[in-house]
Amino acid sequence: MPNSPTQIQLIQPDDWHLHIRDGAIMRDVLADTARQFARAIIMPNLKPPVTAVELAHAYRSRIEANLKSLGINDFEPLMTLYLTDNTSADEVRKAKAEGIVGFKLYPAGATTNSDAGVTDIRHCYKALEAMQEVGMPFLVHGEVTHSEIDIFDREAVFIDQILEPLRRDFPQLKIVFEHITTKQAAHYVRDALTAGNTIAATITPQHLLMNRNAIFSGGIRPHNYCLPVLKREEHRVALLEAATSGNPRFFLGTDSAPHAKGDKEAACGCAGCYSAFNALGLYAEAFESVNRLEKLEGFASFFGPDFYSLPRNSKKITLKKQAQSIPQELPLGDATIVPLRAGETIAWSLV
Ligand code: DOR
Ligand code: ZN
Repeated sequence: MPNSPTQIQLIQPDDWHLHIRDGAIMRDVLADTARQFARAIIMPNLKPPVTAVELAHAYRSRIEANLKSLGINDFEPLMTLYLTDNTSADEVRKAKAEGIVGFKLYPAGATTNSDAGVTDIRHCYKALEAMQEVGMPFLVHGEVTHSEIDIFDREAVFIDQILEPLRRDFPQLKIVFEHITTKQAAHYVRDALTAGNTIAATITPQHLLMNRNAIFSGGIRPHNYCLPVLKREEHRVALLEAATSGNPRFFLGTDSAPHAKGDKEAACGCAGCYSAFNALGLYAEAFESVNRLEKLEGFASFFGPDFYSLPRNSKKITLKKQAQSIPQELPLGDATIVPLRAGETIAWSLV
């Protein structure tokens, strides 16, 4: 990879964790993602959620119609299903046969549109057995949701109470610990003993670039609020170390999660950061901050497809050290959205 401090070329990345929603707003957010990424894993937390193969096929058709109307023909959505207490082993096998790339665990009540999520992981053991058997990746939102657990501890408690027992019971299950936010999660994934390629984690740009002060700097900052919530600086540092270490267990997943401006700037504002507008610029900034730009390509372009047993992309893209202003607002259907770092500049741009 020919690298210079002002320009880097890399195989085109994919986004291994993305929300694009549905209906009118999908068109606006898809364009931002498809400008940078070749593929993206599409999260199933619609209203109602995408719980069955037929629903995923229908959702994929709506995505493809939007891509077509945008004139985009080089972007591939990778579809997932939303796990419920009632997901059957047969649905898992059918999903595998029909090209679904993963099942997503939303613990009930954990985040946006998670009401239909899993109330107790033990209800899902038949489905999990089938996932393990057919090699279907299991994508976990790793937080416990009991109200007595402090919001900043929910991920660490999830590791002890849910993830570790799950891995003991399903040692061959391929698990992606999504959007990790803590030192505990980074170290857990780094140090996990596994016979094969069975555990990995995605990391968002906001968790590499910001700590929890960003939610409260000079007043409440709803656009920096996502779930799992930003943590202390020591956690950000551990995540940055993991992402830039060259360890193939860590790869790119933006968790870009669009909500209209009014739904964020509200008495009970929605969780989610919209990072899709210049996600690659944000990641480049994070990697550059620790002088590890040469590790970006593995994280962004290689380790995700390797984990999912999909081919790596072949097209190349170039990122240039050229400041880009992030608009205050972008169109979002009939409304607007405030992108991450709105009104600021990002040092890196896609050429
Ligand atoms: O902040 C978040 N927003 N975290 C999630 O897990 C879901 C997402 C969304 O769908 O808005
Ligand atoms: Zn998400």
